[in-house]
Amino acid sequence: MNKMNRFITLLFLAVVPMLDAATYKGQKAYIESCKSCHGGGQELAASKKMRTWEKIMDKKGEKLADIHMASKRAEASWDYFQDRKFTKDARHLEDFLVEYARDSGNVPACN
Ligand code: HEC
Repeated sequence: MNKMNRFITLLFLAVVPMLDAATYKGQKAYIESCKSCHGGGQELAASKKMRTWEKIMDKKGEKLADIHMASKRAEASWDYFQDRKFTKDARHLEDFLVEYARDSGNVPACN
């Protein structure tokens, strides 16, 4: 029984940081590539619901790229959205945005 508990504890210690890391990677990508125009990521994330983010970030962020490619004001981001780096970041960004979506329950309730 003792062995089993130790196993579960170890499993837990291994899995929790992994889940956290996905959100963390997304946050890092956000800070690198979105913050200059959109400011704080948690506010942007909280502007939409989980389902909406899932749709926007579907197919490796295709929709999000479209929104920016269609806007002259977002011109400075065009290189990024056309780059493979964005396709790679898209999954992590989705994790981050969904994690802090308006209906995720993870946003501090101050408004
Ligand atoms: C160069 C500045 C710039 C960068 C970098 C940028 N955006 Fe944008 N973003 C814009 C502009 C401008 C718009 C408004 C487009 C329009 O509707 O004309 C926009 C629109 C959006 C929208 C739609 C807003 C809405 O309410 O529907 C989302 C979501 C979004 N951006 C998320 C992101 C994310 C996530 C990143 C990083 C991967 C990012 N943006 C990077 C400038 C930027």
